Amino acid sequence: MTEAPLEGVRACVFDAYGTLFDFAAAAKGCRDLLGDDIDRLTGLWREKQLQYTWLRAVQDRHEDFWQVTGDALDFALETLGIEKPGLRERLMTLYLTLDAFPEVPAVLKRLKQAGLQTAILSNGSPKMLDAVVKSANLVGLIDAVLSVEEVGIYKPHPKVYQLAVDRLKVPASAIAFQSSNAWDAYAASAFGMQVVWCNRYAQRRERLPGRPDREVRSLSELPGLVGAP
Ligand code: LAC
Repeated sequence: MTEAPLEGVRACVFDAYGTLFDFAAAAKGCRDLLGDDIDRLTGLWREKQLQYTWLRAVQDRHEDFWQVTGDALDFALETLGIEKPGLRERLMTLYLTLDAFPEVPAVLKRLKQAGLQTAILSNGSPKMLDAVVKSANLVGLIDAVLSVEEVGIYKPHPKVYQLAVDRLKVPASAIAFQSSNAWDAYAASAFGMQVVWCNRYAQRRERLPGRPDREVRSLSELPGLVGAP
């Protein structure tokens, strides 16, 4: 994949969970109760959370991401046989205050200094996204927080990517979309956005429509790719 800068980018749009915010931080914050189960719980919780979004979209039976995240957590805790008083509530509360990945604030600052619009486009509910943006001190660095609740269906439905086009008032081809979720990156590319796949988790490439334009390991490489040195 070439390292050349993308052309014609006017807005940088980010996936939230796994891309800007570290969803593993919730279970890590309960080390006292989870011990060695931290990684297993994080993996299963996330996997089930995403499955439920896709299954609900296919069934056209939308519930918001708070509900889906809680349902997935219940499934994961039961599967792993973890029963600890107060744990579920602590994990859900921690999901509202996830850490941003370390490079995120400086990257957003550089993008904004270069005159680019910045936005989040996420499955998260408005309440969840507002909370996590505030707790990670990103208010002022993100111009628009766009939730799938506005269209009532989850990624990767094209309506979600269209929401960014409509709300930011720029064509898809002038948007650089960043996601650590390969399937999300491919779908945004198939939709017509320019895509930087932030492959933090060393995922394999998808056999799905679309083709991310660039692949990076952290967002630190993004400013150089969109003319924001
Ligand atoms: C999101 C999930 C897919 O933030 O990470 O939309």
